[in-house]
Amino acid sequence: TGLVTLDSGFGNTAAYQSAITFLDGEKGILRYRGYPIEQLAEKSTYLEVSYLLINGELPTAQQLEEFKGEIARHTLLHEDVKRFYDGFPKDAHPMAMLSSVVSALSTFYQDSHNPFDDRQVNLSTIRLLAKLPTIAAYAHKKALGQPFLYPDNNLGLVENFLRMTFAVPPEDYDVDPVVADALDKLFILHADHEQNCSTSTVRLVGSSQANLFASISAGINALWGPLHGGANSAVLEMLEAIQADGGDVDKFIREVKDKTSGVRLMGFGHRVYKNFDPRAKIIKQAAHDVLAKLGKGNDPLLEIALKLEEHALSDDYFVSRKLYPNVDFYTGIIYRAMGFPTEMFTVLFALGRLPGWIAHWREMIKDPSNRIGRPRQIYTGTEIRDYVALESR
Ligand code: CMC
Repeated sequence: TGLVTLDSGFGNTAAYQSAITFLDGEKGILRYRGYPIEQLAEKSTYLEVSYLLINGELPTAQQLEEFKGEIARHTLLHEDVKRFYDGFPKDAHPMAMLSSVVSALSTFYQDSHNPFDDRQVNLSTIRLLAKLPTIAAYAHKKALGQPFLYPDNNLGLVENFLRMTFAVPPEDYDVDPVVADALDKLFILHADHEQNCSTSTVRLVGSSQANLFASISAGINALWGPLHGGANSAVLEMLEAIQADGGDVDKFIREVKDKTSGVRLMGFGHRVYKNFDPRAKIIKQAAHDVLAKLGKGNDPLLEIALKLEEHALSDDYFVSRKLYPNVDFYTGIIYRAMGFPTEMFTVLFALGRLPGWIAHWREMIKDPSNRIGRPRQIYTGTEIRDYVALESR
């Protein structure tokens, strides 16, 4: 009984109180634990930001060293975890492998099932942060049929991930610091974004007191869709399709504006940002910098993206709907220049978003007001009717 309000897509419903991320969509403000995203992207590192999101404060030098040390101790996958990849087909999507293997982690760690045991939760946190890059790199290697590399814990987390992804034994592989720095920055920019679809999924699954691995695996699946994290792959496919069609940006914009086409300008629009996405601003600049440093400054896809943005921002369709480039618009171009195949782009988003998911799950589990997530509905089915016997139908 009682009135239930319909709020499609949760456009106006706050399901949680949270102290992790502040977002003002009208002003284009994003802060993690009070720190502006611009400062963190410029001055911090992904691991430091992970610590900040999860623990609430920036680490001291000693805390950071300890955190890095703990993560380095857990980067290996159990040899039996690696067998999962043998069972996956060669053309399996890496996001499906990522969520499956993360889900499987809870079969290996029986000391991960009690969400109220701080020791277990801390261990699962470290295991996830340490192992997700290894799991992701192996998904890439599986597609190529190349050998899996053990982590090299003399390297930092991002460098280690790049080496496990791109090194091909027996040759040596030197991590390009330009690529490592840029990827680290992109991970920071993706690290949290309050109640987006995947984070809310992690919370919803966790609200039933499911363990951290199970909840994060669900978050990875939610991220996969093209309206969420999958948009970064979709943007690149869109740019390539425009290029193959002779680079006619106007024609593509016309197609998007024709609502019957079902075509969207991927990497544009956001539920909350209505002026600009502060992450997109930083990433657009990074795209120029990284491509120039990698000697790929004249990438025709970057040209097409710049033209698309320019055309869209001067077109009433996009202006009146307050559609601006979002975080996914320029990332694909950078990932491609770094050597990642398109299918891996959303995996990179997942690596970046992991600390945010973990922080939200932990915040929720500790919140005394937390109760199981259980949305209501408005029933639109038939009125009561009597069962009809099979022979009479
Ligand atoms: N291209 C063309 N039209 C669009 C687009 C777009 N990318 N985005 C929204 N619209 C139109 C939409 O058709 C609607 O028009 P009308 O009012 O005439 O019906 C209006 O703008 C409002 O759109 P909406 O679908 O109600 O907005 P939403 O808040 O539900 O969706 C969104 C937000 C991000 C899913 C959507 O803008 C979209 O599909 N964008 C493309 C996919 C994308 O880039 N996703 C990444 C989001 S950012 C990071 C992340 O989460 O991964």
